[in-house]
Amino acid sequence: MFNLVLFGPPGSGKGTQSDKIVEEYGLVHLSTGNLLRQEIKDKTPLGLEAKAFIDKGQLVPDEVVIGMVDSYFDAHKDARGFLFDGFPRTIPQAKALDNLLELKKTAITQVLMLEVDEEELIKRLVHRGKTSGRSDDADENVQRKRQEVYRKETLPVAEYYSREKKLKQINGMGTIGEIFERLSASIEKKIK
Ligand code: AP5
Ligand code: MG
Repeated sequence: MFNLVLFGPPGSGKGTQSDKIVEEYGLVHLSTGNLLRQEIKDKTPLGLEAKAFIDKGQLVPDEVVIGMVDSYFDAHKDARGFLFDGFPRTIPQAKALDNLLELKKTAITQVLMLEVDEEELIKRLVHRGKTSGRSDDADENVQRKRQEVYRKETLPVAEYYSREKKLKQINGMGTIGEIFERLSASIEKKIK
């Protein structure tokens, strides 16, 4: 299996690039943000619990997210590989993912980290907020809070993968096409 983590701060283009990568390489897209937004839309108990955290720009508790990923694996047993978008976001999530993949006799192949200036991130999210309908896009304070949570809680995950020699930084500034070219060049060195 080819298992890719697309890593980076809110607004770095993970969702945008994921759509192109899954189409090009036939991976299954696992976005915990999208899964949580679907739960909210369906008004499930999990969705109601998650919404309170998301609207404040905070992370949803690890056990909730890990449980959701586990069920997603069960529903996609024939996948040739996964693209993880917005997951893992904490060290406990990264460890849980390693364990879940080990049960499937596979592992993370590569972690690509999109690097974008903070002001560009906010600019992109303010722009997206005008049309996305996402409650966490509506307020610039919530966007800044998400950047702060990323630095404190999620950046240590990059260090975790760097120790395992799986992390590669990618310049996330430029056009969507240019960034996709950079990501593809790295993926093609690893994918068979
Ligand atoms: P999630 O949905 O994962 O959001 P995020 O990480 O905050 O990232 P975004 O979706 O905001 O940005 P993106 O990197 O996907 O960028 P995009 O492609 O959209 O999570 C939302 C919330 O759910 C979290 O805050 C948390 O509460 C919870 N959650 C989710 N996963 C969790 C987990 N694992 N654990 C705990 N809690 C979790 O691009 C942004 C904008 O820029 C778009 O409008 C796009 O069109 C535009 N754009 C993209 N590329 C370019 C470019 N090259 N040039 C100009 N504009 C561009
Ligand atoms: Mg996204």
